[in-house]
Amino acid sequence: MPRDAVPQPVRLSDYRPPDWLVDTVHLDVRLHPTATRILARLAMRPNPEGREGSPIVLDGDELSLKSIALDGTPLAGSAYVTTAGTLTVLAPPQRALTLEIETVVDPSANTKLMGLYRSSGAYCTQCEAEGFRRITYFPDRPDVLAVYTTRIEAEREEAPVLLANGNPVESGAVEGTSRHYAIWHDPWPKPSYLFALVGGRLDRISDHFVTATGKKVELGIYVEPGKTERAGYAMDALKRSMRWDEEVFGCEYDLDVFNIVAVADFNMGAMENKGLNIFNDKYVLASPETATDADYANIEGIIAHEYFHNWTGNRITCRDWFQLCLKEGLTVFRDQEFSSDQRSRPVKRISDVRLLKGHQFPEDAGPLAHPVRPSTYREINNFYTATVYEKGAEVVRMLKTLLGEEGFRAGMDLYFDRHDGDAATVEDFLACFADANGVDLSRFALWYAQSGTPHLAVSGHWDAQARTYRLDVVQTLPPTPGQPEKQSMVIPLALGLVGPDGNDLPMRLDDGTNAERGVLLVTQPRQSFVFRDVAERPVASLNRGFSAPVKLTSDLTTQDLVFLARHDADPFNRFDAAQTIALAHLVEATAARRTGRDLPSPAALVEALGATLSDATLDPAFIAQALSLPSESDVAREIADDVDPDAIHDARQALRRALSAALTPALEGAYDRHAPTGAYAPDAASAGRRALRNACLDLLAAGGTAPGLARALAHFRDADNMTDRFLALSVLAHNAPDAREEALAAFYERFRDDPLVVDKWLALQAQIAEPGTLERVRGLTGHPAFSWGNPNRVRSLVGSFAGANQTQFNRADGAGHDFVADAVLELDGRNPQVAARLLAAFKSWRSLEPGRRASAERALRRVAAKPGLSPDVGDIVSRSLEPA
Ligand code: BES
Ligand code: ZN
Repeated sequence: MPRDAVPQPVRLSDYRPPDWLVDTVHLDVRLHPTATRILARLAMRPNPEGREGSPIVLDGDELSLKSIALDGTPLAGSAYVTTAGTLTVLAPPQRALTLEIETVVDPSANTKLMGLYRSSGAYCTQCEAEGFRRITYFPDRPDVLAVYTTRIEAEREEAPVLLANGNPVESGAVEGTSRHYAIWHDPWPKPSYLFALVGGRLDRISDHFVTATGKKVELGIYVEPGKTERAGYAMDALKRSMRWDEEVFGCEYDLDVFNIVAVADFNMGAMENKGLNIFNDKYVLASPETATDADYANIEGIIAHEYFHNWTGNRITCRDWFQLCLKEGLTVFRDQEFSSDQRSRPVKRISDVRLLKGHQFPEDAGPLAHPVRPSTYREINNFYTATVYEKGAEVVRMLKTLLGEEGFRAGMDLYFDRHDGDAATVEDFLACFADANGVDLSRFALWYAQSGTPHLAVSGHWDAQARTYRLDVVQTLPPTPGQPEKQSMVIPLALGLVGPDGNDLPMRLDDGTNAERGVLLVTQPRQSFVFRDVAERPVASLNRGFSAPVKLTSDLTTQDLVFLARHDADPFNRFDAAQTIALAHLVEATAARRTGRDLPSPAALVEALGATLSDATLDPAFIAQALSLPSESDVAREIADDVDPDAIHDARQALRRALSAALTPALEGAYDRHAPTGAYAPDAASAGRRALRNACLDLLAAGGTAPGLARALAHFRDADNMTDRFLALSVLAHNAPDAREEALAAFYERFRDDPLVVDKWLALQAQIAEPGTLERVRGLTGHPAFSWGNPNRVRSLVGSFAGANQTQFNRADGAGHDFVADAVLELDGRNPQVAARLLAAFKSWRSLEPGRRASAERALRRVAAKPGLSPDVGDIVSRSLEPA
């Protein structure tokens, strides 16, 4: 490999302002399936903050350059140079000037799905993070903000719909041809990663929204022909998002139109291009027959997320890609809050924390760990991670916990006010909260810089004589890649002291102050907090609402946890208490399996879950969460090393059987009480009833008894919506080998023309925890419904196998690891971004038992040895293998 083909790492500390700025961009795009011509006119000037006398260096990737002119005069060949990744104008006049550049690209050959590509015949673009350079030469960095005008021209027959950012200006026929054009203008300066255009044969649903100040916004959602009926829920979610952002954050929409386009081929979930969001169709299209309650909730959350970027991301963007959490973590926080307000706040918190622990905690504990704001990267695509997104959102949530509702809002208001139109940094963001509240956040800022999950060890001591209760807190932060030593963090620890009657006791600290809003500030390696006037022995309910993203261990007994599971006023901790009991049981049972000891008794968990099931005051959706045990990877993470996935699986199955047997009447009762009462509706209350009924069915069938399986078969047969039908199918596929094939075949026959439903069918089969699964998955890669070219298909089949089937991915014979490594290599030549994400499934390989660890390492080394790896896969594999 030539030396310069190995990309050099980019460092935050090397940031320099751009030498040249771009004020306006005029694009003239002539769409053609294999030779699309792009004429770009850039009005540029030297940046007063840049280096004087600099050449103009533009980024480019896989472009064919047709012409380049400066102020109307073609540049001589000696006046510029191109390399694989750049075009440099060597000695430009140091004044405002215009560059005209003509490039040609082949959208049909663009399998990376970055830049301009085709999806089901339509033309679309994806530019974040560095895709605009695959359309034209440009300073493709987020701190170069320009006003864009886009003219698109195409065959009217092929692309009757032509869309770009901003407001529509003009459209019409191209005289004397079968072509037509449309012109769009976006008045808001933006970075190139927010550019988008779409051309194709698409159907539209229309609506409108009147903003708080009375401006009318035309709303459009574009989908593949014939699918408009499935876009209604997304439109409704969009309007609710627009209203919510006005009410909660004072953010009003700022263009005359807002369009969303759903495409079938998309690397990610969705993209916030200014005024023209482009979505993976799985996060737009929904009908009761084809989408589950979880799909509806995802659509609502992602529509909101991309819409919310209009302020957090677009009006205020990022100075450089190290600041990615500035838009993503903040916007995830905002979409979480939106969903909490639309649905049940406690249930939303529970599912968000499950996601955080399930994805971010393992990332932070393995070779791919990095700070919320990384300080170096080799491939930015690999940093759209659970750490930047989910932990980034937790850091914003902690700010709110520390400053309170009003202090937080004051900080956000100042941020919008001070930085509108800027490309900002994390420091800018924090300064707004510090200034608005008169506080010092310099130590809090460590949350952005130090990687790894902090550990809090807490013990409580009640002194009956002195009527005091003392909490001793020890904090540690483990070493992570590149960070052997750590400083203490500022950790907001929300808590309650629960009295024997189940009510919270008043909390007065030793110094006479009240623990403000129930939050202790942990700042030291070791710290004690003494509460006074504590007349009875309390049970400490710690880290309420998961106020800090830490791993907390305590000296609470199993009885204390059962007590909290029944009485804690904080719903999250009520849930978490039972999960803690279950997790401890599973860790012990796994060890017992491996050493042939007797399994521990599940009595405490039976008691806690039995009480939850029979508590009529609880939200069904909450009970459903309580009934769902920690996952196999949750147990693996808790065990942390020498992990044997088969032993974990067996222990978990045994526990599910035991719960099933012990709780059968209660589960049957809840199942029957929550039978559907009318037609399917996707609202949270109806979804909660289905979730509980389905959780009961799942546990009943886990017993493997004839009545349990009969119930699952009936549920499958009688279902009138995808939520129930698919849950029943999963129960059968996992627990009833004899009924499995027939049910899978019936499901496929019914939905074979519906790729998004076929995805569910693929994903389910990939997750079966049986030795036959690998052969099944291999076979399915040859199924007519599968394609390596579509990211949704690949993620459903191969991604589910690698990420959601611990026993079969980590087969003792190494065949699971080999299969995924082969898939990564197969995919890398076509779509490196998707390939790299698949490879990240190896992120916890070092915690496996020695045999499996060796096979994972062999598979990784085989990937690493392949010549010509993409930077995406090369980066993941080399960090994965770096010595711990
Ligand atoms: N800006 C991202 C989309 C994106 C991600 C572009 C990675 C380029 C590379 C978008 O706002 C986003 O975050 N999408 C998420 C879904 C969201 C709800 C967390 C996604 O695509 O997964
Ligand atoms: Zn985002």
